[in-house]
Amino acid sequence: MTQENRKTATQTWDKAGWRAYPRVQMPDYTDPAALQAAEAQLRRYPPLVFAGEARRLKAQLALAAEGRAFLLQGGDCAESFAEFSADNIRDTFKLLLQMAVVLTWGAQMPVIKVGRMAGQFAKPRSAPTEVVDGVELPSYRGDIINGFDFTAEARIPDPQRMLAAYTQAAASLNLLRAFSTGGFADMHRVQSWIADFVGGPEAAKYRDIANRISDAMAFMQAAGVNSDTAHQLSKVDFYTSHEALLLEYEEALARVDSTTGLPVAGSGHMIWIGDRTRQVDGAHVEFCRGVQNPIGLKCGPTTTADDLKALMAKLNPENEAGRLTLIARFGAGKVGDHLPRLIQTVQSEGANVVWSCDPMHGNVIKSSTGYKTRAFDSILREVREFFAVHKACGTIPGGVHFEMTGKDVTECTGGVRAVTDEDLSDRYHTACDPRLNASQSLELAFLVAEELRNRREAAIRPRPDAVAV
Ligand code: PEP
Ligand code: CO
Repeated sequence: MTQENRKTATQTWDKAGWRAYPRVQMPDYTDPAALQAAEAQLRRYPPLVFAGEARRLKAQLALAAEGRAFLLQGGDCAESFAEFSADNIRDTFKLLLQMAVVLTWGAQMPVIKVGRMAGQFAKPRSAPTEVVDGVELPSYRGDIINGFDFTAEARIPDPQRMLAAYTQAAASLNLLRAFSTGGFADMHRVQSWIADFVGGPEAAKYRDIANRISDAMAFMQAAGVNSDTAHQLSKVDFYTSHEALLLEYEEALARVDSTTGLPVAGSGHMIWIGDRTRQVDGAHVEFCRGVQNPIGLKCGPTTTADDLKALMAKLNPENEAGRLTLIARFGAGKVGDHLPRLIQTVQSEGANVVWSCDPMHGNVIKSSTGYKTRAFDSILREVREFFAVHKACGTIPGGVHFEMTGKDVTECTGGVRAVTDEDLSDRYHTACDPRLNASQSLELAFLVAEELRNRREAAIRPRPDAVAV
């Protein structure tokens, strides 16, 4: 479809059009004047991202759909105002860089780095209220909506929080941009990215790769490889993403791209639609269909083939490469029950998608000590099942999606450093779901790298009947 035709298609879309559709998981603000004032303020603020960046991410995701790049998406379940600090941003960014090194080394292909950062504030909840010690209050919905404290006052949705979230997102993105291009992410520093507290076999394996990369770079320099290459290695492309749940915020930050004349979400490079808000005729799908950013779509056990067909038609009517990433989140032991039928739907539609694996959201359990947790073994198992199904179907596993932090938290059990149910209370800091800590994340990166390497080797291994005699 030409750009002109695309313009006509989006002329039937308006950034406020979602308001006419059924909405779920969104707050009922009690003070309409305060809401309108906050929205008006946000509309005057600059967008956080430039449309050209979202287009570049889309072009890179198009390569992931073909198996020529791999998507690494990760960060907090919910960013919070209380946990906002330069150190936290640096540590998660650094961990994503390390994981990307491990994956690039294993897969020998570019890794697209996308943070669940600088905008990941709003949370869908499984119940509208929660009960603690017999007291029932509205659920916490993320710092952009209401407060975490278990008081009636904190739980009232406050539109001013959107402005605080915007400010935090802007400051986070500013630091991420500085880290990406200002020297911190220079590949020559690959050995320094590992956190002090990460020990054990995965740290040793990382150091081995880092040493080999350093040797290769020293060799290139000695051999006089030109300064353009050195410059390329001194910075990284880093993108932001979040669930587009709070549509008042998304609408207020939507802009028209001056280059193409098309609408774009200015709140982050990539936005996704959650498993609870993906109704084909719902408000979230209506908003997301009209912006040109890359879109993620969570696919869970209840996603039917018909749902997926209708959603793909609505969200990517032109079958544009890199536009749609399907993020599978079924739970360990269930991937084989669900993924094959969705892959078949994608194939029968001839749809262009990136398949990504979120092994987090289908694996939440309650620990014996009462914490909401995830077992590292289940997470590993879901990743393995995802790769196995793609192998059996002859399709491409294009990425992974994790909830993780660069901090040494104890929120998920297991891993080489064996966090137990009893350990969970030590450093359980998440504002929502349990995250992988740095050590667990790195261990997982090695597993994914191994899967990718096996796949590459299988692809280049000559078939027995093709071997020359
Ligand atoms: C999330 O990614 O934080 C989330 C809530 O996921 P899902 O919509 O897949 O449950
Ligand atoms: Co989550």
